[in-house]
Amino acid sequence: MLRRDFLRSVAALGLWPLANDIAPSPRAALKWPETSDPHFWRWLRAQFDIPKGETYFNTGTLGAMPRPVLEAVADHMREIEKTIAHYDYRPEHPEYFAGYRKQDELRAKVASVINATAPEVALVQNATMGSNFIGNGLELQPGDEVLMTDQEHVGNRGPWELREKRQGIVLKKLPIGTPPPDPDAVVKIFAEAITPRTRAIDVPHITSKLGIVMPAQQICDLARSHNIFCVIDGAQAIGQRRVDVKAMGCDAYVTSPHKWLLAPPGNGLLYVRSDRLKDVWATLASASWNDYEPADGAYRLMQYGTGNLSLLVGLDAAIDFYRKIGPDRVHDRVMELSNRLRSGLQKVPRAHIDSPTHPAMTCGIVTWGIDGVTGAKLMDELWNRRKFRARAVDDRAVRQSCHIYNSPEEIDATLEIASALARTT
Ligand SMILES: Cc1ncc(COP(=O)(O)O)c(C=O)c1O
Repeated sequence: MLRRDFLRSVAALGLWPLANDIAPSPRAALKWPETSDPHFWRWLRAQFDIPKGETYFNTGTLGAMPRPVLEAVADHMREIEKTIAHYDYRPEHPEYFAGYRKQDELRAKVASVINATAPEVALVQNATMGSNFIGNGLELQPGDEVLMTDQEHVGNRGPWELREKRQGIVLKKLPIGTPPPDPDAVVKIFAEAITPRTRAIDVPHITSKLGIVMPAQQICDLARSHNIFCVIDGAQAIGQRRVDVKAMGCDAYVTSPHKWLLAPPGNGLLYVRSDRLKDVWATLASASWNDYEPADGAYRLMQYGTGNLSLLVGLDAAIDFYRKIGPDRVHDRVMELSNRLRSGLQKVPRAHIDSPTHPAMTCGIVTWGIDGVTGAKLMDELWNRRKFRARAVDDRAVRQSCHIYNSPEEIDATLEIASALARTT
């Protein structure tokens, strides 16, 4: 149940003991400027609690929450605490925690962000949980093969490695290049690796370290033509670019809305195409683990025991925030900033860009370095000189994630630091 409905139901049931005393005062609705307003992005930056003078470039790890999202979560938690004694567990009454109910309304809303239907979506806690539910949930025999890249995030690789060790499946980590030259080269690598024993392909939509936008749709086409289950790890995609699981043609999609969609940490999304749901066993089993009713769909994959309902309220608010800006506008801004960084770095002597520069494979993540400067030192220099927080990803580079709370001025200042380091170190 969403926050608005929670308040309405609690009020209607007379559950608030002292209405004026503890009933939450609905905060004034955020007043949005026109998106054409030249100060729009500055206004938007002010919606985040990151102090002035500090700059956050690590959305690839965890997104910052805009204030309306944070307030929705905090208000809801406070309301829960104030009224907890009134909770009588009746299904017709508002719920106080997540992990048990179907959450039809929110599933429908989340599903619409990725062009799915509500039953095809399970609300889980992060991409890792979704990947594990697929990695453990498919029926596989010893010797069955699973293909992935050599650049998977641990949360997507781990479930298959566990199964390899425990049940003898064969996991093939295909080297795709750092970065690959173009999307076709990646598709060719996968096409050539398929054998009669290949049962699943699991690749990122966008890779974690270098931000390579993978040819997900072509890989799904390839998988389908061989009747191979295809799962896409979209942890880095939702909220930075449009995701359309139907156009992509994947059998499953996992993602973490607490990165680019700016939802509170502890939110995950698992999509399984309706005709593939029967192929996925539940991993975390609770009351409805065996519920194969089409209308319930992926519900049996989202019963994780008692969870924090306020985080789902935050997810709901994050979707509203994203929609209010507009998915295309977000994507355009992310690309404008990251293109500025890529093209600027190309002019800095001794700078190297480890992320792709092929236009079909670029996104808001730019992993770069200066020859002879370690990733850790570069991360510290960015922080010590300008309070810019990027993330060191290896011994030669930082990963800089450019999102809507960043600005062209911050990109230009990054380039100045890069030039200064190239000159002086
Ligand atoms: C591509 C990719 N997959 C999966 C994950 C795991 O995400 P989470 O920790 O939210 O489960 C990440 C996290 O950075 C990622 O980049």
